[in-house]
Amino acid sequence: MSLLEINNIDVSYGDVQVIFDLSLKVEKGEVVSIIGGNGAGKSTLLRAISGLMPASSGTIAFHGVPIQAEPPENVVASGIIHVPEGRRLFSLMSVKDNLLVGAYNKRANKDVAETLKNVYKLLPRLQERENQIAMTLSGGEQQMVAIGRGLMGQPHLLMLDEPSLGLAPILIKDIFETVRKIADQGTTVLMVEQDVKHSLSLSDRGYVLEHGRVVMEGKAEDLIDDPHIKEAYLGI
Ligand SMILES: Nc1ncnc2c1ncn2[C@@H]1O[C@H](COP(=O)(O)OP(=O)(O)OP(=O)(O)O)[C@@H](O)[C@H]1O
Ligand SMILES: [Mg+2]
Repeated sequence: MSLLEINNIDVSYGDVQVIFDLSLKVEKGEVVSIIGGNGAGKSTLLRAISGLMPASSGTIAFHGVPIQAEPPENVVASGIIHVPEGRRLFSLMSVKDNLLVGAYNKRANKDVAETLKNVYKLLPRLQERENQIAMTLSGGEQQMVAIGRGLMGQPHLLMLDEPSLGLAPILIKDIFETVRKIADQGTTVLMVEQDVKHSLSLSDRGYVLEHGRVVMEGKAEDLIDDPHIKEAYLGI
C-alpha cells in the first residue's frame, strides 16, 4: 500500500476543468516532485489532495483510507500538511508565533515544545530570529518559516508548493538542502516546483504535468536525462 494513492481524479473550477484523469502515488519516505509550467494544474492538484478544491471524480487514499470527500481539517488531522504557494505568514506576528500556529491540530498539539525544538534544530536560523516580526524577514527566511510551520503540524506527508519561488540561487540551494534533510529524517515530501533541475536532483521520483494531465513520470534521474524535459524545462 502506498502512503498516498490518487486514481483518475478530475478537478474543475466551476465549468472549467483543470485536472484530467490524473493518477499518482507517493511511497513512504520518498521525495516526489511535480513539475510543469504555469497553469499546468500543479497547485490545484495539491488543493485537491488537501480537500480545499475537491475532486469531482476519482479517488484519493492516504494510508489506504479514502480522503477525497473529507474537509481540509480532517485531511490535516490524517497527517497531510500543505504549505501553500507564496508563504502566507502572519506578517505582524513573530517567527515563533507563526511556528506555533502550525501546531494547531489534534495530533500535533500535544508535543509542541518538543516539535519546536526539532524544527529549530533543522532550521537554526529561525531560533536566532524567533522574536523577529515575520514581515521583516528576507524571502528565504520567510520560506523557512513557512516550511517550519508545516513541520510543526507533525506531517506524515509534507506538501510544498513552489518553495524556491522568487528566491536567489544561493537561497534556493538552502531550501532544497532543507527539503532533503526533512525527508532523511523520515517525513515524506510531495513538492511542486518550477526549478526542475534542482527539484529533480533531490527527488526520488517525478511527475510532469501539462494542461492538467500527467504526460511523463519516472525516476528523477531518468527524467533529468529525458530529451523532452531537457528541451521543455531545462533549456538544453
Ligand atoms: N480559483 C480559481 N478559479 C478559476 N480558475 C482557477 C482558479 N485557480 C486556478 N485556476 C486555473 O486553473 C489552472 C491551473 O492553475 P494552477 O494554479 O493549478 O496552476 P499551476 O500549475 O500551479 O501554475 P503556477 O506554476 O503558475 O503556479 C489555470 O488555468 C488557472 O487559471
Ligand atoms: Mg501554482
